[in-house]
Amino acid sequence: MTLGTVRGWLRGANRIAVLTGAGMSAESGVPTFRDAQTGLWARFRPEDLATEAAFRANPGNVWDWYAMRRQMVAGVAPNAGHIAIARFQQRHPGRLTLITQNVDGLHERAGSTSVLALHGRLLDDKWLDPPRACCLAQPPLDGRPPRCAACGNLRRPAVVWFGEMLPPEVLAAADEAARTCDLMLVVGTSGVVYPAAGLARAAATAGRMVVVNPEASELDDTAHAVLRGTAATLLPQLLQEEP
Ligand code: OAD
Repeated sequence: MTLGTVRGWLRGANRIAVLTGAGMSAESGVPTFRDAQTGLWARFRPEDLATEAAFRANPGNVWDWYAMRRQMVAGVAPNAGHIAIARFQQRHPGRLTLITQNVDGLHERAGSTSVLALHGRLLDDKWLDPPRACCLAQPPLDGRPPRCAACGNLRRPAVVWFGEMLPPEVLAAADEAARTCDLMLVVGTSGVVYPAAGLARAAATAGRMVVVNPEASELDDTAHAVLRGTAATLLPQLLQEEP
């Protein structure tokens, strides 16, 4: 299926959904998770860094790893793909629902609003245990991680760790968008992590689902079209206005 065909589908679609994964930000310089050489999960063990048990066992280590990722993301910029999505949303208010597995905040920095961040946000943090009155009464004490001066409750990154639920209202909105869209673009995800990958499968049943990825993904077989190329090259071509 050609780019032109998919552009035609997009023109005819009233309800568009875009589901993005780590490949969306690869050309901004953010590493993906599963690339054999540069992927975060090729270099680090997720069970040591991305679970509640790991944080409770070694909060300083986990906090520092997220601080490193926060710093890295602060030093990069949205790419042409992020910008193409944001501009399309601005030109067509309410027509495109953006769902991301990324925690890097680059969609928002490109100008997208109402981003459904399935896996939370790297730059935010939250209380590890439900906050007591003391936690809310004063700002947390600085540290790695910051803590409540009275009870010791810790601040943790506001991302979804392995074994944790996705934010239910975000998942519900994403599910609704997937089940009611005419067309979903699935950009830069390996399609192995659920429930996110299930959204692409639901969209393929509801309407058309198109994969945008330079490499093979688990969702290719279900897609109505697979466009082999990168987010920053293909999204501007897909989402730009007709001359
Ligand atoms: P992965 O690292 O599993 O997959 C990244 C995908 O992006 C691969 O299919 C690459 O081929 C593709 N890719 C690489 N460069 C690209 C580019 N320039 N343009 C388009 N695609 C490109 O990342 P995710 O699928 O996002 O979860 O991983 C899903 C979840 O697993 C993440 O959200 C994270 C991780 O554990 C949590 O943190 C909860």
